[in-house]
Amino acid sequence: MLNLTHRLDRPLIAPSILSADFAALGNDCQGVLDAGAELLHVDIMDGHFVPNVTMGPALLKCLRERLPGAFFDCHLMVCDPEQYIEPFVDAGANHITFNIEPALDAKAGSGMSPLSAGFDPLALMDRIRSLGATAGFAFNPSTGFESIERFIEAADMVLVMSVEPGFSGQAFMGDVLPKVEKVRSCLRDDQRLEMDGGISPKTGKSCRDAGCDVLVAASAIFGVPAADRGRVIAQIRDE
Ligand code: DX5
Ligand code: ZN
Repeated sequence: MLNLTHRLDRPLIAPSILSADFAALGNDCQGVLDAGAELLHVDIMDGHFVPNVTMGPALLKCLRERLPGAFFDCHLMVCDPEQYIEPFVDAGANHITFNIEPALDAKAGSGMSPLSAGFDPLALMDRIRSLGATAGFAFNPSTGFESIERFIEAADMVLVMSVEPGFSGQAFMGDVLPKVEKVRSCLRDDQRLEMDGGISPKTGKSCRDAGCDVLVAASAIFGVPAADRGRVIAQIRDE
């Protein structure tokens, strides 16, 4: 089983199943693993932190049963991640990333949704690890490096969003790349840097050059016929 804290010899590709065919999810997941992907990225949205709802632990549990050896990289875009950690680890998550903004906004008293619980990101990462998964946080294109810098050393993986979260198929926001380079300069060998949003064979190189070693892609991979997905995965990794 993949361990994210081990040194890598090549970038890892994480197809986001948000753009898969939900009526054929098991086959779509197996197909991209067979085609060379190392992780499956699971986008969890609560309809409050972002204006979309997607998948819950019951779905992940079915995928885990179908794909016992797969690495599930779960990305929580929710106001209150604390309440979902345990259900998703129990369902089979290997890694959990939560978007950090509800914690930052609650501290700043910005009047974010009352559903936001104002959690402590450091305690939450420890809690995830205590349950047996690796842990990290994500931050949005509009969230500055200064707001997240102090949390970097505690993460097994930091995820930089290169679109506003909520939907697949959006255009890559290249102006996040300088921020990616700053995060990269803070990381140790046992920490990963993941990028998510608008990644394709065209944009993969700039992400890799900025220091990302885990690349998420939904529409670029699942938007092509199954027979072409291996080629797209290889292009995002190398081209
Ligand atoms: C966006 C999600 C992404 C998304 C990526 O809110 O976190 O993982 O599925 O989709 P693409 O690769 O199509 O931009
Ligand atoms: Zn994601």
